[in-house]
Amino acid sequence: MSVTIKPVKDQSLSAETAFDLGDFLAVRAARVNDALDRFIPRAKTPPATLHRAMRYSLFAGGKRLRPALCLAAAQACGGDESEALPLACALECIHTYSLIHDDLPAMDNDDYRRGKLTNHKVFGEGIAILAGDALLTQAFEIAAQCKGWERYPQSTIILELARAAGSLQLVAGQVADLEAEGKGISTRQLRYIHERKTSALLRCSVRLGAMSANCNSAQLYSLSDFGYHVGLAFQVIDDILDVTQTSEKLGKTAGKDAQAQKATYPAIVGLKRSESIAQRLTQRAFAALKSFDGHAAALDALAHYLLERDR
Ligand code: IPE
Ligand code: IPE
Ligand code: MG
Ligand code: MG
Ligand code: MG
Repeated sequence: MSVTIKPVKDQSLSAETAFDLGDFLAVRAARVNDALDRFIPRAKTPPATLHRAMRYSLFAGGKRLRPALCLAAAQACGGDESEALPLACALECIHTYSLIHDDLPAMDNDDYRRGKLTNHKVFGEGIAILAGDALLTQAFEIAAQCKGWERYPQSTIILELARAAGSLQLVAGQVADLEAEGKGISTRQLRYIHERKTSALLRCSVRLGAMSANCNSAQLYSLSDFGYHVGLAFQVIDDILDVTQTSEKLGKTAGKDAQAQKATYPAIVGLKRSESIAQRLTQRAFAALKSFDGHAAALDALAHYLLERDR
């Protein structure tokens, strides 16, 4: 299995960040991939089609950003990254399920993802739906295997994950995204969509990492603020990239948002304002790391990488 991590451009890192993010990401991605490989049933385990489909999308070469954010948050709070590993894997399973379903003909109808044909193109819609269902369920099976911490017992962890993925957050965002197609919505409604469909899981990723380090409430507050702003900026940038990048670069079909009349930042406020909104959100994210006083180098570098992607 191969995971491609884009090399980080030197200029994308702030002067004070003498941190090797390329190395950080490569090591974490390898660790997460090994753990996922152990958690997910073998491709030959019956029903083999299902397990092959789950593995196909899971190991198609995603950036592993949510696991990386989770592990970096654990590190920032002085935790042991290996304790956060099941949570990092659970987050990637939820993310991958959301992509498989997002690409279905009934949703965004996309043919390419992570540089490969989408799950339903290879396995058919029925199996793609079921592979998504199984990955979502698998996420909770994996998360339930975390050790639990004094301030954050297993029930708190499961609740956190369920809330971020559920009908008030990620799924709510996807519903609003579908319902907004072809409509001129307000910037407030647009923000509602992006907060839920994307920011909620990124925020949850850093929160779970922090919880695995038995963080205090001030740390949890700051990291939630960081995750929220990084997550929101990440989706604004995803919208921008859909307009400005090629399909080859994205590993998914560019220009699809306009074609589907999606409610995106470029469509509603224009490219220029989208850029300045992304920048403003980015500044808010960095400000949230101030209290970590240099102990959040990985999170800081990750945020630079996410928020200063080519566009
Ligand atoms: C894509 O997420 C979907 C969005 C929320 C914008 P990523 O850009 O993190 O996708 P992968 O995991 O690298 O494929
Ligand atoms: C995806 O948003 C959000 C989720 C899958 C929850 P998009 O529909 O913009 O993501 P891409 O562009 O297909 O990756
Ligand atoms: Mg979508
Ligand atoms: Mg989509
Ligand atoms: Mg998109």
